Amino acid sequence: MEEGLINLPSSESCLLAAETEPVAEKIAVKSALGTLGTQEYHTRFDMLLPENRGGRKVMMGDDPALPKMPAAPGLIDFFKLRFDRSAASHLLQSANLALNSGVSEKGVLACLLHDIAMVGLFGCDHGYWGAQLIAPYVDEEVAFAVRYHQALRYFPDPACGFEYPQAYIDLFGEDYKPEPYIYADYQYAKNHKWYGLARMVTLNDLYAFDPNAKVDLESFTDIIGRHFRQPKEGLGFDNSQVAHMWRSIIWPRNFL
Ligand SMILES: [Fe+2]
Ligand SMILES: [Fe+2]
Repeated sequence: MEEGLINLPSSESCLLAAETEPVAEKIAVKSALGTLGTQEYHTRFDMLLPENRGGRKVMMGDDPALPKMPAAPGLIDFFKLRFDRSAASHLLQSANLALNSGVSEKGVLACLLHDIAMVGLFGCDHGYWGAQLIAPYVDEEVAFAVRYHQALRYFPDPACGFEYPQAYIDLFGEDYKPEPYIYADYQYAKNHKWYGLARMVTLNDLYAFDPNAKVDLESFTDIIGRHFRQPKEGLGFDNSQVAHMWRSIIWPRNFL
């Protein structure tokens, strides 16, 4: 494992754990969101049939393919034990850029968390999901910035030095147009008192980030400590409105 960065177990070691565990010890049924649009969506329950199950049990509880989480996990545990190293590196690099630009601590936290849903859940509407995931634990302004970075990224703001990303032209095509709700949310955010923080996230959102860059998660532990209200029961177990979302990251392949 490389030194520095965020001390994640490498994807290689996760792979090794999966390869060395007894063959298909438990059946993990893939989620609807991960398979909709594919043939597998229609067949994903077939392995539960008695003739296909072969006496195996279905995945419930701690997943042997993933590192075990502490009983009361904090935000940093999710970075270290769940989030993919290179994707988490994008968050660390964005936060580092903001820190070096003299952005407020709340702004640095917003950058650190802006794609948390992309890293832990899924990409579609990740700004909205991410804002919801963190809302009980951060200032409202931070959740606002995470939510609206999604819409603001499609709209240039030359006065701030933000242009439409070349990466979007490359990835989505010249003629791609965002959905109407994105336009509506852009209009709303642009006239909001917290526009500046949300726009700042897009300014520090790196498009050509270096997956091997070394930014230490420990650089942000003080800022997390001051601005992320860690519940003593642990994320997922504090009975908040979003506790189930954190639990889904802890046990992503549980059947129920
Ligand atoms: Fe994003
Ligand atoms: Fe991003």
